[in-house]
Amino acid sequence: MSSKLSTFICQNCGSETSQYFGKCLNCNSWNSIVEEIKSKTSKYQEKKNSKKSIPFHEISSKKILRFSSGFREFDRVLGGGIVPGSVVLLGGEPGIGKSTLVLQSAGKISLNEKVLYITAEESLEQVKIRWERLNQNSIDLQIFAETNLSLIIEEIKHVNPSFAIIDSIQAIHNHEMQSSPGSVSQVRECSSELQNLAKDNNIALLIIGHVTKDGALAGPKTLEHLVDTVINFEGDKISSHRLLRSIKNRFGSTFEIGIFEMLEEGLREIKNPSSIFTNKENISGVTTTITNEGTRPLAVDIQALVNKTFYSNPRRTTTGISINRLHQILAVIEKHVGIKLSEFDCYVATGGGFEINDPSSDLGVAISILSSLKNIPPLANTSFIGELGLSGQVRKSNNLRIKIEEAVRLGIKNIVVPKIEEELNNNFQKLINIKEISNIKEAVDYSLSK
Ligand SMILES: Nc1ncnc2c1ncn2[C@@H]1O[C@H](COP(=O)(O)OP(=O)(O)OP(=O)(O)O)[C@@H](O)[C@H]1O
Ligand SMILES: [Mg+2]
Ligand SMILES: [Zn+2]
Repeated sequence: MSSKLSTFICQNCGSETSQYFGKCLNCNSWNSIVEEIKSKTSKYQEKKNSKKSIPFHEISSKKILRFSSGFREFDRVLGGGIVPGSVVLLGGEPGIGKSTLVLQSAGKISLNEKVLYITAEESLEQVKIRWERLNQNSIDLQIFAETNLSLIIEEIKHVNPSFAIIDSIQAIHNHEMQSSPGSVSQVRECSSELQNLAKDNNIALLIIGHVTKDGALAGPKTLEHLVDTVINFEGDKISSHRLLRSIKNRFGSTFEIGIFEMLEEGLREIKNPSSIFTNKENISGVTTTITNEGTRPLAVDIQALVNKTFYSNPRRTTTGISINRLHQILAVIEKHVGIKLSEFDCYVATGGGFEINDPSSDLGVAISILSSLKNIPPLANTSFIGELGLSGQVRKSNNLRIKIEEAVRLGIKNIVVPKIEEELNNNFQKLINIKEISNIKEAVDYSLSK
């Protein structure tokens, strides 16, 4: 029994309406609403309704036994490895290297666990060619080239693997539905059926989903609340570095990152990531900060260029930090250092374009800007950590201890930080020169005083 019913779904945000609108009422995007026919109840859901509730104490609480993805960096992002029965969504722009990552990982996992790789986009031969280029040894991997959801489900039940990969969710379809593969309702329906299957059979499932740069065809966006873990594979076409970032994780901390390099023979883990985002050159306009991404401290350069403007509205551009953050930092400098910036263009970029979410990078941004403006290099071999408050004070930073440890490990000589506990200062006294400051003015006097 499956009655057909027609709805109108925004392909951008996934919101549903019963009639057509030219503009989505939810996300305001134009021409994104498409009529989709969907079946009201799937067979799978009907069967599941026969489940009964049980007393809470009857649930066994075994410790979760994770298995490794074969990559230390991947495991870190997952919160310590793959959880059996969990569903992971791996998103990323086309061509970024999602298939490469999962194929390498699948090869490594298949040494210990049964793995099924479902390729809905590429033929078996194409996957084999990649496999050979990646120079993988193990051939224990099961592979299935199919786009039809019910055949995929049958095969997963038949193989009963510990780990299954769907590459990709936009390429598969439920033939009971009339909407086309990749549409919001197909993506949702296929995912929820696969998710039920994974949970019932304790199969860890990794679903690949494409995300475009402007998020225009963001089918996978609508899945984020459905799955246990959402990770993004990021990078740009110019550099060979790739970042794996967790956006949501029911089994670990979020904003954890893993760093790889894309080489001809596949992805390689970066062992010392701080080295790729810093230069250690002492020139005006450049400082180093230590941010915290998930549980990992990471040194990143912050570069600024401040020039007299030729425009009535000065230019402000950022790469790696948000533009609003820059506007706020400029306002704090104007008010509390007493320097008028309205006649200057201001460009700020992080090393390698690395996206920083940690507000303790503010101080580094401010010092870089002032260093470029005054054309004075900042104090040599120094890192800056601290969030700028609107009243000019430098506020406490999260996880300062591990940031200082990272600075010590990298051989940094001075570190400028907000006021810290005496005990913390004593711990590091012999290893690094810690300068405690309480506001932006003090930081400027200390580091740009030549
Ligand atoms: N021979 C090669 N040498 C070096 N790098 C290669 C080679 N072939 C492919 N690559 C890299 O692999 C990337 C494509 O990887 P992959 O197919 O895994 O990406 P994807 O995210 O799965 O893409 P799609 O959206 O097409 O599924 C290319 O952008 C390129 O960087
Ligand atoms: Mg692919
Ligand atoms: Zn919308």
